[in-house]
Amino acid sequence: MKIINPPLVLTLAFILVFLSCKHDIINYPNEKIVDTTKVVSPKIGGTSSSDTVCFNTEILPLFSSYCGSSGCHDLNSHASGVILTDYTRIMRGIREKLPNSSKYYTIIGQGMPPRNSPQMTVANLATIKKWIEQGALNTQCTNVCDTTIFTYAGSIKTIFESNCNGCHGNKPGTANIYLGDYASTKSYITANKTLFLNSINHRSSILSKNMPQSGKMVQCKITQIEKWINNGYPQ
Ligand code: HEC
Repeated sequence: MKIINPPLVLTLAFILVFLSCKHDIINYPNEKIVDTTKVVSPKIGGTSSSDTVCFNTEILPLFSSYCGSSGCHDLNSHASGVILTDYTRIMRGIREKLPNSSKYYTIIGQGMPPRNSPQMTVANLATIKKWIEQGALNTQCTNVCDTTIFTYAGSIKTIFESNCNGCHGNKPGTANIYLGDYASTKSYITANKTLFLNSINHRSSILSKNMPQSGKMVQCKITQIEKWINNGYPQ
C-alpha cells in the first residue's frame, strides 16, 4: 500500500531537521514503520456490522478540523513542531491501545485546542479513545453512512461537528462562516447554495475554497448533506 515518494521523503527530512530546534516533537519509540492501512467492511450508521473506528472518516477529520487549521498544526504552520493532518504524524503522539499515555489524546480539552477555539465534543473524545484502544490503526472506510438518514439531528449536525466546526464552530467562524447551529447553517447555505455545493464537492477552481481543505469527505456524507438541502433542511 505504501508508496515511497522521494520528494516527500526529502521534504519530511528537511522538516525534521528544520524543526529539531523546537521543543515539542514527540517521537515515541513505537513510531510506525509498518504499514497498518486496513480497509474495513462498511459501517452503516449506528447499526454497524463492524464496530471498528475508521481513521479516514472519524479520526483524521477531527484532528484536521480542531487542530490542523492554518496558523496551528497544519503542514505550513506546524506550531511547536506538531503537525496533525496525516496518519504518520498523528501517530507521533499516540500510543496504540494506551489512550492515557497518548499525548495527542490527553491534551485535548486540557489546553488544546486553545480555550477560545472550538472544542471537541464528549462524543468526539470517546471516538478517539476507542480508536486508540482498538490499536490506533490506519483504518480506511468508504461506505460509512446511511444516505436515507438526512435530518439535521439524525446525521447532518454530526457531520458539521466532526468535519467543519474546528474552524466554523465558533462565531463569527473562519472566513466569517459559522456552521455551529441549525439556523445559522441553513441561512448560510440558503444564501450561498452553489458556492457551498461546489466547495464540499471539491469542484472549486480555487483549491483553498474546497472544504474540508484536508480532503474531500466520503461521498455518502456529501450525499446526506445534499439530500438535507434539497428536502428543505429537515430538522
Ligand atoms: C481547518 C479549518 C477549516 C475546516 C475544517 C473547514 N473549513 Fe471551511 N473555510 C476555512 C477557510 C480558511 C476558508 C476560507 C478559504 C479561502 O477563502 O480561501 C473557508 C471557507 C469556506 C467556505 C467558502 C468557500 C468559498 O468558495 O468562498 C465554505 C462554504 C466552507 N468553508 C464550508 C466548510 C464546510 C462545509 C466544512 C466542513 C465540511 C469546512 N468548511 C471545513 C477553514 C476551514
